[in-house]
Amino acid sequence: MSPKKDWNHWVEKTLQTRRDAGLLRTLESVKPSSAVHVEVDGRRVVLFSSNDYLGFSEDERVIRGVQETVEKYGLGPRSSPLICGHTSLHQELEERLAGWKRTESALLFPTGFSANLAVISAVANSDTTIFSDELNHASIIDGCTLARRSGARLKVYPHRDASALEKMLRVCETKRALVVTDSVFSMDGDLAPLVELSEICEEHGALFMIDEAHGSFVFGKHGRGLAAALSIGDKVDIHIGTLSKGAGNHGGFVATTTAIKTLLLNLGRSYIYSTAAPLSVIGGILAALDVVESDEEPRQRLWSRVEQLGDGLGVKLKSPIVPIVIGGEAETMKAARNLRESGIGVTAIRPPTVPDGTSRLRVTLSAAHSSEDVDRLLDAIDGLSKWCDFTVKNKGL
Ligand SMILES: Cc1ncc(COP(=O)(O)O)c(C=O)c1O
Repeated sequence: MSPKKDWNHWVEKTLQTRRDAGLLRTLESVKPSSAVHVEVDGRRVVLFSSNDYLGFSEDERVIRGVQETVEKYGLGPRSSPLICGHTSLHQELEERLAGWKRTESALLFPTGFSANLAVISAVANSDTTIFSDELNHASIIDGCTLARRSGARLKVYPHRDASALEKMLRVCETKRALVVTDSVFSMDGDLAPLVELSEICEEHGALFMIDEAHGSFVFGKHGRGLAAALSIGDKVDIHIGTLSKGAGNHGGFVATTTAIKTLLLNLGRSYIYSTAAPLSVIGGILAALDVVESDEEPRQRLWSRVEQLGDGLGVKLKSPIVPIVIGGEAETMKAARNLRESGIGVTAIRPPTVPDGTSRLRVTLSAAHSSEDVDRLLDAIDGLSKWCDFTVKNKGL
C-alpha cells in the first residue's frame, strides 16, 4: 500500500468512527440578515446560539466606528505587532481596555483562544502547578497542555469546588501556583465562585487568572465583567477577555500588570508569531467600548430577555447562557432539528465539548432578540417537552 493510500484510509476510518458515534461535526452556512436573524435552507430562523450578547455586531454606533476608521486609515500595516503591526490605534485600544478593567496594562491578541494559550504557557514552568476547573474552556486546557511541555504540573479541581481547590493548594509541591477559571462557564452558563477563589489565591500566594469571555460586556457596571460586579477585580492578577462575544467583533486581550504584559510579549508565542488585528476590528471595538461605557440600555435589554426566559422556564437564570441538557447525542440532534422546523436555531453541543451523556442545546440570549423572539423560543421549548426529557442547567453564586 502506498503511504498516501494509508493516509486516505486513516482519514476515512477516523471520520467513520465519529459518524458511527453520532459525533461527526459538519459545517453549515447561514445567510445573515441581522445579528440573530438568518436564513438557512430558505427558512427564516431566529438564532439562539450566537455570543453577540449586546447585539453590537449590528449596532449603528459600532458599525460607524468600523467605517470611519477604515475610511481614514485602511486596514493598517499587516504584520505581527512586534514587527510593525502595532499602531497608535492598537495602543489606544490597549489603554482603553486597561482603564475599563482597572489594570495597569492590557495586551491585544488575535483571539481569546490564543490569549489563553500564550498566558498559561508563558507564566507556568517546571516551578509551577496549575490548578484548573474541570469545565474550563478548551483554550485553557490546551494552554495547560503546552505549559506541561515546559514541566508545569496540572491539577484539575472539581467544577466550582473552592474547598477542594483549597485542599489541593495546601499540598502544592511547587514554588508557584496558578489558579485558572472561566468566570462564566461557556457551556453551562453557571458562575465561578470568584470571591472564594480570590481569597484562597491570596492566602496561598497563587496567581489568579480568570477568563471573562462570557463575563465582559455582560456583567457589572459598564460591562466590566463578573469580577468587577463582585468588587474583586483588583484581586485578579490576569483577566482574559475576548472581543468576539460581547463586543460583537473579533480578537482577545489580557488585562494585567505591566510586568506580566512585558513577559507575554516576550514569551507568548501565539502573540509574537501572529498578525495584529486589522484596524476595521480595532475601530469597531473602540466604538463598542464607547457604547458600553456610556449606554447601559443594551445590557439592560439583554438582562430583561434573560429574566423573561427564566420566568417562562420557571428558573432563576444567572447568565444569558442557558443549557437545555438532553443527554444522548441522537436525541439532542433530533431536538435541534425539531426547533429548527419551528424557526428557532439552537446548535446541539455534544462530546467532547461537553462530558459524555450531557449533550445539550446551548441557548444564548442577546439584546438583539425581541421579546417576541423569546416568546417563540419558549413555545418551541414547550413543544420539545412533549416528547423529550431535559433539564435546564444554569445555577450560580
Ligand atoms: C471561555 C472561553 N474562553 C475563550 C474563548 C475563545 O475566544 P475566541 O473565540 O475569541 O477565540 C471562548 C470562545 O468560545 C470561550 O468560551
